[in-house]
Amino acid sequence: MTSTSDSSSVWGGRFSARPSDVMDAINVSIDVDRRLWAQDLAGSRAHADMLAAQGIISAEDAATIRQGLSQIEDEIRGGRFPFRTEFEDIHMNVEARLRELVGPAAGRLHTARSRNDQVAVDFRLWVREACDRTIGQLRDLQRSLLARAEQEAETLMPGFTHLQPAQPVTFGHHLMAYVEMFGRDAGRFGDARTRMNESPLGAAALAGSPFPIDREATARALGFDRPTANSLDSVSARDFALEALAAASICAGHLSRLAEEIVIWMTPQFGFIRLSDAYTTGSSIMPQKKNPDAAELVRAKTGRVAGSFVALSTVMKGLPLAYSKDMQEDKPPVFEAFDALDLALAAMTGMVGDLTPDRERMAAAAGSGFSTATDLADWLVRELNMPFRDAHHVTGRAVKLAEQKGTGLDQLSLSELQSLEAAITDAVYSVLSPQASAGSRLSYGGTAPQQVRAQIARWKELLA
Ligand code: ARG
Repeated sequence: MTSTSDSSSVWGGRFSARPSDVMDAINVSIDVDRRLWAQDLAGSRAHADMLAAQGIISAEDAATIRQGLSQIEDEIRGGRFPFRTEFEDIHMNVEARLRELVGPAAGRLHTARSRNDQVAVDFRLWVREACDRTIGQLRDLQRSLLARAEQEAETLMPGFTHLQPAQPVTFGHHLMAYVEMFGRDAGRFGDARTRMNESPLGAAALAGSPFPIDREATARALGFDRPTANSLDSVSARDFALEALAAASICAGHLSRLAEEIVIWMTPQFGFIRLSDAYTTGSSIMPQKKNPDAAELVRAKTGRVAGSFVALSTVMKGLPLAYSKDMQEDKPPVFEAFDALDLALAAMTGMVGDLTPDRERMAAAAGSGFSTATDLADWLVRELNMPFRDAHHVTGRAVKLAEQKGTGLDQLSLSELQSLEAAITDAVYSVLSPQASAGSRLSYGGTAPQQVRAQIARWKELLA
């Protein structure tokens, strides 16, 4: 469907007919990019001030524009702003409203600016804020893990490889592994932020502007370190968003691993932890059920977040310079990913604070599965000067014997052990308990409570 004259649109001078309904439907983005309203107003204020300071528009027009923008801000905050699909996106909605509110001065705001650099600056501001917010949430999560780790620095649990009992570790040590991961995640968001913190405003449509604009001034006003150095790149680049999504994907992956462990620990078979009613749900049919839905959903959110990276990188690949309308599809994946990550981080922080470990069960499990076999082998090397490969072999036979008898390694009698290696003395029993095993791992970064406490102290200082 087309109708007659469309001189009301901002490009109405060149056009005589209205777009078809389907053109409108595929073209509008206001329902998505209205989330950029605060960034759009900030960008417009910086631009208007700069235009006036450079004598490109009059001080009176700039003041009028500013006052209109404030009125728009009030309307948006108060839920009174008329978001209208006929104005396509947030930029034109604001401009159209500004014209209704302040009249002709509104028409001067877009001097030396294009929606191409406008959306680029708005979106950078949004992603920058998202990175900052996420770093804050990661720090909160790290703090709650740290508090837990401190309480559980001595708590024994099995350490696993292949999800098979490997060597005893402390629960505090296990939790601190995630503090390290989330620390690197925060670092990645910080790196992305540093790199993206350049202002594209003033690149205009693609080639820069013939007006005597001051890009340093607008960059400064918006908290950027400097203006971007190539106008084509300024309006074409979305790698700042991709980098943030990459950091988000890796972070979501880490959250998913911890969520998966919570799910496993919560099973009656493991029974390592309990979550309160606040983070679990029941079943509509099975009265005994207590399901770790929050952990499962944190685990599942990874799909959205990682999918968003794939979505945006697929939109961007193969786009010729400079702007193409494809790039309007940059916002949904970013908003979706950060919404999901935001929720996942909050849920995880909540669960870490909520969980109750069953220390007895964990300690009992720490000794199962012949988890101190390596300690026996190490003892044979250290005390009997046996080559490690031989010690491994002797220990393997000890495990076999214990398995046949249905006991643990530390329940084998001395004569049984000596039947495997005559030189073994009863001093060996001192290394066969899970507590001795974990306590002996004093190497830097090891699981001994002393080392765990040292790492907790280091992180406390870093997060102070
Ligand atoms: N809504 C557009 C976007 O989000 C704004 C930029 C439009 N630029 C253009 N040349 N049509 O990408």
